[in-house]
Amino acid sequence: MKNMFEEAVCKSRAFALKLGVRLPLMNAPMSDAAGPELAAAVSNAGGLGVLGAGFMSGAEIEQAVARVRSLTDKPFAVGVRIPVQGSSSSLERAKKMAHALEDLALELGLEEHYAWAKMPDFDEQFEAFVSLDVPVLITSFGGLREIYAEKLERLDVKVLSAATTLREAKVLRAADASGIIVQGVEAAGPRLNFEQPDSASQVGLLSLIGPAARATGLAVVAAGGIASGAQWAAAMAAGASGVMLGTAFVRAHESAAAQAFKDQLPYTTDAATRFVRTFEGRLSHVAANGLVEALEEAGIVPGDYPEQCEMMRPILLAAQKAGRADLMQLAAGQGAPLATAAPAASIVQRLESELDELLGESPFA
Ligand SMILES: Cc1cc2nc3c(=O)[nH]c(=O)nc-3n(C[C@H](O)[C@H](O)[C@H](O)COP(=O)(O)O)c2cc1C
Repeated sequence: MKNMFEEAVCKSRAFALKLGVRLPLMNAPMSDAAGPELAAAVSNAGGLGVLGAGFMSGAEIEQAVARVRSLTDKPFAVGVRIPVQGSSSSLERAKKMAHALEDLALELGLEEHYAWAKMPDFDEQFEAFVSLDVPVLITSFGGLREIYAEKLERLDVKVLSAATTLREAKVLRAADASGIIVQGVEAAGPRLNFEQPDSASQVGLLSLIGPAARATGLAVVAAGGIASGAQWAAAMAAGASGVMLGTAFVRAHESAAAQAFKDQLPYTTDAATRFVRTFEGRLSHVAANGLVEALEEAGIVPGDYPEQCEMMRPILLAAQKAGRADLMQLAAGQGAPLATAAPAASIVQRLESELDELLGESPFA
């Protein structure tokens, strides 16, 4: 009988080769968790480390990339957010939310009317990225416009873009992505849908991988709930060329997530994670905490992305600094209870040895 994994292994090996890494496994571009230390540790362990640069300015990306390079000489990636336009009605709702949170802001040491954290300028981020000679760019919330994609193609930079539905995967193919990250509904953090409404973008990971791989002919990276070699094998069997793990790395020693968040994760059951708009103004998969519940009870409607995100960000950063898990964004997917506290290299090694055991060989050794 032909080994059902033969083809899957070939695809995965080819993808790893294209990225210049040994293992087709990467950490997710997690804001405030995937800093230079985590990215470098995952790259040093043989995977593709990813710097979560969504909220970084161009200058901050330069600094963070220099730090990654001081920790590893292996390839790594930078993850950015494709900008979306806001609206004036959303701005009004975010302002009402800010008003409701004034006491809380003061308690966290912010001014009553603190400055919102504006989303960084995308062109500045892009120019910084281009100047740094990083081999892989990851985009969330859409693909690159032609002018950017052409530039990266000339520089031989690989672009991996995230989709939550088959239709979005096809749109990203048309935008010249080199590979598609499919984000299943199990995934932590912001839903990355950009083309379809929230109601139409809640697809389970295993239903998304095969159709996206077949329809685009591109390498597909599976993201959402993956924390074991068995899940990796399942994603491969379904047609994935690689895997991306977010939640499973939150508690890694090198993760920059606040300690109070890391401590909370083991108590978050699969059923305890929920989708809320409180933090980003777009659906985000989190372990609900006191702040979410208080605002929901008060009936205050969040603004949309990016205004709500810009309004909340100073509060969230102050909450992280103060170690207040009740006020942070505890981005967590359905795999939350499977996340372990260990060096990132041990997490990577565990997944690889579990996969090897299942396959009866070491395809990436
Ligand atoms: C703490 C945390 C922060 C995240 N922040 C972002 C972000 O800023 N941008 C983004 O595109 N995805 C973000 N994500 C989502 C990941 O990109 C990815 O889709 C998800 O982590 C995969 O699912 P998993 O967590 O179940 O492995 C975040 C995830 C976590 C756990």
